[in-house]
Amino acid sequence: MCGIIGVTGADDAREVLLEGLERLEYRGYDSAGIALVDADGISRIRIADGTHSVALLREPARALDRGQRAGIGHNRWATHGQPSERNAHPHVDCSGDIVLVHNGIVENYAELAAGLRQRGHEFRSDTDTEVFVHLIEEQMQQGSDLVSSLRNVLQKVRGTFGLGVMSIKDPELLVAARRVSPLVIGVSGEATYLASDIPAILEHTREIIALDDDQIAQLRPNSVVIETLEGEPITPRLRTIAWDVEAAQKGGFEDFMSKEIDEQPTAIADTLRGRIDGDGRIVLDQLDLSDEELRKITHVSVVACGSSFHAGLVAKYALEHWARLPVEVDIASEFRYRDPVLHDTSLVIGVSQSGETVDTLQALRQAASSGAKVIVVSNVVDSSMAREADGVLYTHAGPEIGVAATKTVVAQIVALELLGLRLAQVRGTLTPEEVATQVAALRAMPDIVADAITRNDDVQKVAEAVNDAKDFFFLGRHAGYPTALEGALKLKEISYLHAEGYPGGELKHGPLAVIEPGCVVVAVASSGPLQEKMLSNVAEVKARGATVILVVDDGDEEASAQGDFVLSVPPAPALLAPLKDIVALQQFAYHLARGRGLDVDRPRNLAKTVTVE
Ligand code: F6R
Repeated sequence: MCGIIGVTGADDAREVLLEGLERLEYRGYDSAGIALVDADGISRIRIADGTHSVALLREPARALDRGQRAGIGHNRWATHGQPSERNAHPHVDCSGDIVLVHNGIVENYAELAAGLRQRGHEFRSDTDTEVFVHLIEEQMQQGSDLVSSLRNVLQKVRGTFGLGVMSIKDPELLVAARRVSPLVIGVSGEATYLASDIPAILEHTREIIALDDDQIAQLRPNSVVIETLEGEPITPRLRTIAWDVEAAQKGGFEDFMSKEIDEQPTAIADTLRGRIDGDGRIVLDQLDLSDEELRKITHVSVVACGSSFHAGLVAKYALEHWARLPVEVDIASEFRYRDPVLHDTSLVIGVSQSGETVDTLQALRQAASSGAKVIVVSNVVDSSMAREADGVLYTHAGPEIGVAATKTVVAQIVALELLGLRLAQVRGTLTPEEVATQVAALRAMPDIVADAITRNDDVQKVAEAVNDAKDFFFLGRHAGYPTALEGALKLKEISYLHAEGYPGGELKHGPLAVIEPGCVVVAVASSGPLQEKMLSNVAEVKARGATVILVVDDGDEEASAQGDFVLSVPPAPALLAPLKDIVALQQFAYHLARGRGLDVDRPRNLAKTVTVE
């Protein structure tokens, strides 16, 4: 999720690195650094000053320049260790001869770092990344060259990586390797470039090679050699990029929202990564609550705003069912102005992708002052909420640029459900077998959500069919209820159409009065404990002339027959179903907004982070 840039053979490597980092700034980052490499050594500078970091690098970077032609740079979006200069990349080994940048997560870094410390290595950061340079250092001390060293090290590492590494022993060589985290190589004939994203190098070359998973590349000024991690040679596939920089930043997507919808399987997989150990134990290491403290909890209160509130509502169904704890979910701006009953056995969970939303922040401060344990689910490491809370559960969705939340919401649901399983584990409310079943179901979700995303063209056709409608009602029951709320919020936010979300059972208590021909009712009717009741609600709105769109599981002909239109989704267990049902509703809102010619990334009147009341 961070940005990588590298070059070998450039006339002015420093400028290539700084410009590359500027081109990657759109992704959001908290710190930045570059290292210039030649036979005389590694000159490195890093700055942690939020989105000013690259600009601030420019001046001090001049002093590093002695005409080096190669180097690597990095914009960091913190995952392990707070945003700070010491944690910013590039990282160096103990000798200072090897330098490395990394995107991704090393799942077994704690175990690797413990071994390295025992063998005398000195760590100078709190990152998972640093284990790479020390492991490579050990290999090189035993006589291996840089490529073989990296190859050997990658066999010991569990997790994901996109990385660039250099050594002063062979300063023209830049070695790259990839598993999951994207990397591209650019060739110009004179210099060779490495980047996590095409825009970073587009102004130097349009000739690009995309590195595939489990490949390792050796970049020299006028050559590129690619092999598998096992050493099998790969013939590079060169393609010419026709996009301009802005199109390239969107990775070929029309806008950030569709790109971020597409990134949801990765956001889920990354949020699960490293959190379930070999014995099936849920490991949430930054939670900072002992098993004893988790056992003492008598009640849970979730506070959040907007889409994060909806993620909290989904979690209520899971936490109550699995951990048998009473769970309240509050809108933060209401919670902070009432007089909630909290005590030292209350667990208050703030859910906020930004970690800065002022209502949620204030609600958590209030909760902390009443003695409750406070934890935060945040997508931004070291956000205000994360700094103040007793513990943190980070989502690893990567920066979200579109104002309407998409991938961060599914990541929040996953993080909260992991917490639900952890609570169930320590409190003994689920058997180990039941936890294992839920873990397996969660692990299957990236593929199920990827499958849901492929239905985009069908969703577009349904959206086009109701393009003239002005009133939309979203209905759901059980965990489908927050899904309906999220569908309505997404639609109103980006299409400016009137949309309301209701629990299906509430229909007769008021909303039914406004249902008439011309209204569109979107009902979340994927299979679940209350599907039959949901379909009875559907019959009620159909009888009043509404156009009905049903979200149903593949092959559910009986339910499908009751809708005028159907959004088919792959099946999943009821408590996880929101993760894939939400996808259909995001795409539905997206196509209605696009059909109206609207900017889905920057809806009117809204801001990505709401720091005013
Ligand atoms: C909806 C949306 C907002 C946010 C809300 C909370 O698409 O993005 O409703 O969910 O402003 O923001 P965070 O999660 O940053 O606290």
